[in-house]
Amino acid sequence: MDTLTFDLTDPTQYERGISQAASAITRGGIVVFPTETVYGLGADATNADAVSSIFRAKGRPSDNPLIVHIADREDIFLAASAVSADAMKLAEAFMPGPVSIVLPKSPSLADNVTAGLSTVAVRLPVCPEARDFIRACGRPIAAPSANLSGKPSPTRAEHVMRDMEGRCDVILKGYDCSVGLESTVVDLSVTPACILRPGAISSKMLSEVLGYEVRSSYREKLTGAPKAPGMKYTHYKPEASVTALERGTPAAMAELIREEMGREDGIRKAAVVFEELLGLLEGISPVYSLGSVDDPVTYCARLYDALRWCDTVGAEKAWVTAPAPGGISDAFLNRLEKASDRVIDMSGKEA
Ligand code: TXA
Ligand code: MG
Repeated sequence: MDTLTFDLTDPTQYERGISQAASAITRGGIVVFPTETVYGLGADATNADAVSSIFRAKGRPSDNPLIVHIADREDIFLAASAVSADAMKLAEAFMPGPVSIVLPKSPSLADNVTAGLSTVAVRLPVCPEARDFIRACGRPIAAPSANLSGKPSPTRAEHVMRDMEGRCDVILKGYDCSVGLESTVVDLSVTPACILRPGAISSKMLSEVLGYEVRSSYREKLTGAPKAPGMKYTHYKPEASVTALERGTPAAMAELIREEMGREDGIRKAAVVFEELLGLLEGISPVYSLGSVDDPVTYCARLYDALRWCDTVGAEKAWVTAPAPGGISDAFLNRLEKASDRVIDMSGKEA
């Protein structure tokens, strides 16, 4: 398939890019577009054939439902058939924003959008390019992350070019995604509401608005215990086999990386580390910097780029340093653990 590409960071391409993308959607095509979380691969959420093209292009299992994107808060009823008082509170507080709210599904959506579920996840992005695109389409847009299934989500234009060129009708290239991890998914079709996927909107932020503690149903993923490889679904995986280092001091993590990367066993290795370790890893390469351990916004925005970089440098094994849990770092830990074959709990290890 020929893919038309427009660079929305170039003002001379902006209007034509948005209008060509919207007409591709109207014709039943699929379009890659930027959002503040990750790039999405969109189709008309009311057109079942268009939606099935998304599953085909990504190689995504058809039992995994898609998020439906809208351009303005008042369009929520294009996707949902009912919005509870709690859902309205969250919509007012966090939409537009990096959150998806699970609500009863509108009958006008194609059934394959939600993999046959009676609920739908609704999202209103902040990113102006995303909103202009969705608004120009004049209909709700079903969109998963624009990666090939199983791979890290795309957060930069070059990532989507690599995964999706030739597999979709239009690619809208934008700026690097400012959040860099997918939206928080909150289930409001149950009481009390619960978090199905952690993201930049934390449980604390949700709890403050709803007036009760919003719990997570993915929590088991955050217990730093070493996990058996080969969990049922693989996600976010680079080619390299990833080791996550949790709860360690910079010195202890650097020492472990030095020791394991320094082994002469003919395997290509790479490290993805907080800036604080760089000085402790002199002579070790290649190394990708996540930024400071005190700067969650930056290390979250860089995680998927770092995992893809491991492929670029041809690593067979990679070591990645993890932050302490809490707030948006829970989302980092959740994605890193899914990308990892081995998680090492370094608490108690001093270097
Ligand atoms: O930030 C994001 O959410 C990005 C951008 C493009 O908006 N989209 C995204 O979509 O991450 P995707 O398809 O990669 O992830 C959607 C997640 C999946 O874990 C899916 O199982 C869950 O949302 N989900 C979707 N609809 C659901 C529903 N009705 N009930 C429960 N979970 C749902
Ligand atoms: Mg995804």
